This record gives sequence, C-alpha cells and structure tokens, in this order.
Amino acid sequence: MNIDLQGRDFLKEVDFTAAEFTYLLDLASELKHAKRNGSETRRLSGVNLALIFEKTSTRTRCAFEVAAFDQGAHVTFLDPQSSQLGHKESIADTAKVLSRFYDGIEFRGSAHETVEQLAAAADVPVFNGLTDRWHPTQMLADFLTMREHCPDKPLSALSYAYLGDARSNMGNSLLVTGALLGADVRIASPRELWPDAEVQQLAQSLAGASGARITLTDDPEQALPGADFVHTDVWVSLGEPASTWAERVALLRDYRVDTKMLDRTGNEAVRFMHCLPAFHDQNTTVGRDVAQATGLTDGIEVSSAVFDSSANIAFDQAENRLHTIKAVLVAMLPNRI
Ligand code: CP
Repeated sequence: MNIDLQGRDFLKEVDFTAAEFTYLLDLASELKHAKRNGSETRRLSGVNLALIFEKTSTRTRCAFEVAAFDQGAHVTFLDPQSSQLGHKESIADTAKVLSRFYDGIEFRGSAHETVEQLAAAADVPVFNGLTDRWHPTQMLADFLTMREHCPDKPLSALSYAYLGDARSNMGNSLLVTGALLGADVRIASPRELWPDAEVQQLAQSLAGASGARITLTDDPEQALPGADFVHTDVWVSLGEPASTWAERVALLRDYRVDTKMLDRTGNEAVRFMHCLPAFHDQNTTVGRDVAQATGLTDGIEVSSAVFDSSANIAFDQAENRLHTIKAVLVAMLPNRI
C-alpha cells in the first residue's frame, strides 16, 4: 500500500488508520537502525519547526529537538513566559503567524480544543505533544517498544494491561490505540477514573472493526492474566493541584504496580512500561512528600522493586520517543530529498 502522510496533522491517534499508524512504526524502526549504524540521511534540511510548550516536558521536547537536528531541521522553543501566546495573542492568530515562518508546529498544553484550534488556523502540519485528552506521539513509542519486545507477535496479538487513572491522556490513548490496532487491551481502574463515555464508545466502535478485545474493569485480577505488558502512569497528572494526591492515593492504592501485581499476569516474561516521569523512589520532591504523607515509601504508582527490575522497559520506551517523533516529522513535513 502506498502511504503518503505529507502535510497531515497528528492531533490524536484516530487521525490515522491502522495501516498509517503501522507505517509510522515501520518508518521509526528504519530511522532507529539508520541512526544506530551511522547511515541516517538528512531529509529535512532547511525545514523549520515551532515547538510550543504550555506545560513542562523532558522527553517530548528533547525528542522533537533531537529528531529535528538529526534530520537537518531547525527548531524554535516557545513557552507562555517567553512568547505572547495566550496572554496577548490568540491561538488562531499565533497559528497564522507561525505558519508564515515555520513548516510545522508542535503543541503541548492542557485543553485538547487548543491544539484543534491551532490546527484549524494553521497552514502547516500541527503535532500534539500531549493534551489532557490524548498523547498520540507517546502511543507510537509505546507500540514500537511493545513490538520490539514481542517481535514474533503482530500488533493485533499484543496484550497489555493499564492500571491506574484511566481518564487521563495515557488511559484514553492506550485504550483507543489498542482498539484501532486490534490488540488485547485491559484497563483496570476505579470506576470514578474510567475513560468518559465518548472515549469508551470510540474504543468499542474501533474494536468492532479491528477485532480488538477490550476489557474495562475495576478489578486488576480480571485485567492481568496472560498480559505481555503492564503499563501505569503517575496518579496526579501535569497541571492538577498537589492537593489531589491524598484523594488519588486513596483511590489507586490497590492498583499500584508491585511485584505481586506483575506475578498476577502468570507471565514470567511480563514487562513493565511507564511513559515517565515515574515516582518510584524518594529522589524527587514530590516522591518524598507523598511518601511521607501516605506511607508509600518505596514508590507510589510503581514499587522500586519493579522499577529497578529487568522487567522494566520504560527507558527503551523513552528512547523510542525520539525515533517515533522523527518518523512523524519525516513523514509529515516537507521532505527535501
Ligand atoms: N512521557 C512524556 O511525555 O514525557 P515528558 O512529559 O517529559 O515529555
């Protein structure tokens, strides 16, 4: 199949078909191998990319910047403190101005509607670097990582459980992407933290077409048996107030990924995944404060024993942010060769 994604936006996973999503994974694998064996060619020389971050980031910002540099493109980093965005200039006007300077725009922020407005007003491709609703570039990295660790299985045969706050961008995105690709997706979360009805309906409708198996439960015992991968994410997301911790810990304590939880998969080769950053010890101010307030002294959403074990592939997953975001840029920005 001849797939051409030039000029396309990437705002959410379902902007693409399963074939298009898989094409991006294949391109990411190709670019990863080329970087590793020193044969990468610069396909984006002369291309300029604006990176708008309303929220903090380590992986996403660095992945966009290094991917661009590796491919010969240039970037400008913009945040609310150092630009007019949001204070003195509307999203639509910002999009129109940036379209005159840049070949593409990345946006990370809270409201998903903001990235939709940006894309509607921009004349160049817009990429979602995370909103409260979706984290689509993370999904490319997660599926590339799962494919690399289960090389004998097609994407549709992968099984994974996600434990934690399932209304978050990670819960929504893991549910919907697995549904798009036909995977075996198990989400275990207290009912208060399930994805909203619209996201659930979207997943069910995609699963009807793809053959995906969807389990949405409040019982980890129903989600874990036979899973190839166990995912989690922080229990309080970027932008939520610190006061949320006490309530969230009370809700999610029984969904914490510890060694016993991994054992419940019955799969000796099960791998642990986390989009990072993770609270797995007391070497961060939040990790220390929450540990002292709750007694979770050896990790919050994941125990230190799991995080420090060979089951943890979160750093492979983090590296794959680079290769997959590079695939997005190469596929969607104007190619110079
Ligand atoms: N996983 C992820 O999006 O990391 P950053 O918040 O550091 O970009």
